[in-house]
Amino acid sequence: MQSIVWESVDRIPGFMSRGECDWLAEKASTAAQWTEIGAYCGRSTLCVALHLPKGGSLRIIDTNLGTISRSGQTLFTTYLEIVQRRPDLEIIMARIDSAVAASRLPDSDVVFLDGAHHYEQVSADIRAWGPKCRLLCGHDFNPPDWPGVVQAVKELIPCYAVVAGSIWERQI
Ligand SMILES: C[S@@+](CC[C@H](N)C(=O)[O-])C[C@H]1O[C@@H](n2cnc3c(N)ncnc32)[C@H](O)[C@@H]1O
Repeated sequence: MQSIVWESVDRIPGFMSRGECDWLAEKASTAAQWTEIGAYCGRSTLCVALHLPKGGSLRIIDTNLGTISRSGQTLFTTYLEIVQRRPDLEIIMARIDSAVAASRLPDSDVVFLDGAHHYEQVSADIRAWGPKCRLLCGHDFNPPDWPGVVQAVKELIPCYAVVAGSIWERQI
């Protein structure tokens, strides 16, 4: 796996720590398909895209796709960097609600949940995407800030682990 080029990633505003980016990159390196729910400006997206295997498939889902701009960075500027550096990837980007996307998109080796963070929405995401992937994981397992994420994961995933920062994964 190539190491992360932090000057590229750190240009992108977002909520993913370097340790969490490292974990995403490592998991991406063996994923044939990766579906990300909630991309914001694409910080986590870039980490994943740069590490997917050759010819991998990246699906990017965000209800606010095209409307978020921070410090001159948008998901589209990140997308342009991805297609320049990884022209081999298949990429699907959709401005659509996560649960609706689950009913329209194909199964995915990995699904990373970082969209809506309230209990009902995270529960809906886990129910919708859980049967459609091998590795289900997500961000913000963080009781003080996101109690709804923690409650939904604990209730719906009997065997989970917090694996890097606030990233959780379903263990098989
Ligand atoms: C915490 S941000 C994602 C951060 C990003 N992964 C990063 O590395 O910076 C959450 C994103 O989820 C999107 N979102 C919120 N609810 C959603 C839903 N129901 N379906 C799809 N995307 C959603 C928001 O528009 C926002 O861009």
